[in-house]
Amino acid sequence: MRLEGKRALVTGGSRGIGRAIALGLAREGTDVAVNYRSSRGDAGSAVREIERMGRRAVAVQGSTSSRSDVERLVAEADDFLGGLDILVNNAGILKRTPFLEIDEEEWDAILDVNLKGYFLVGQAVARRMVAAGTRGAIVNVSSAGQAVAGPNLAHYCVSKAGVGMLTKEMALELASHNIRVNAVAPGLIETDINRADIAEDAFREGRLARIPLGLIGAPDDVVGAVVFLASNGEARLMTGASVFVDGGQTIW
Ligand SMILES: NC(=O)c1ccc[n+]([C@@H]2O[C@H](COP(=O)([O-])OP(=O)(O)OC[C@H]3O[C@@H](n4cnc5c(N)ncnc54)[C@H](OP(=O)(O)O)[C@@H]3O)[C@@H](O)[C@H]2O)c1
Repeated sequence: MRLEGKRALVTGGSRGIGRAIALGLAREGTDVAVNYRSSRGDAGSAVREIERMGRRAVAVQGSTSSRSDVERLVAEADDFLGGLDILVNNAGILKRTPFLEIDEEEWDAILDVNLKGYFLVGQAVARRMVAAGTRGAIVNVSSAGQAVAGPNLAHYCVSKAGVGMLTKEMALELASHNIRVNAVAPGLIETDINRADIAEDAFREGRLARIPLGLIGAPDDVVGAVVFLASNGEARLMTGASVFVDGGQTIW
């Protein structure tokens, strides 16, 4: 096991990519706090799956876009696990709306979860890592949309581009505290966030035409890169990087 005895918080770990990451970290020997906002049942089943692997796990409720929720959920995770070595910032939302029609409320909602949430949780966890003298690893799940624009995704792509720079800033400022910060940028991965879109022929064929490997990913396709970046051994020289797991979508 590559992460034996580590303790991780995964935001948005109840469903989709976050759930696959939470289970993947546990398979590598990590105890995990699974954050969720409203899917209590899904978070509970993720916890039980992790416990079946012989690891400790807890579900921690809270919205990552609210500072008071973040302070509480990070404290709950830290207290239960007895410290935090790994943070995976993953909780995110997506809406497809033409630029001319995005209203202020929708813009704020996307930026609040996808960018401010990563800052809030990242800062709260990093403060605890620094105070405890932990050699930590933070992985921010961004998106291919951090590098390329997508139709009807102005707010989403801006939030993910922000995560790319936040990753570099955190990496720069936390390096002296022995905390590495990297991003994993997935391409099209089938989850609840896009299942209805992918079911539409025009959307699916249009997206596949732009993916050189011609594949739509599954949540498990993202796990290996996260585990690697979370490992202080294998990835000890990596910080501030974005690893694209996108079938080549962003190379042209
Ligand atoms: N799927 C893709 O193609 C793709 C591609 C690139 C990047 N990503 C990124 O990958 C991440 C996960 O996406 P996904 O596809 O797995 O989506 P998903 O299946 O819809 O899951 C989203 C997760 O985030 C949680 N969440 C949403 N808002 C939250 C909040 N305010 N506070 C706490 N948790 C919150 C959800 O919790 P509840 O269950 O409680 O609602 C759920 O666990 C996102 O950052 C997304 O932008 C996805």
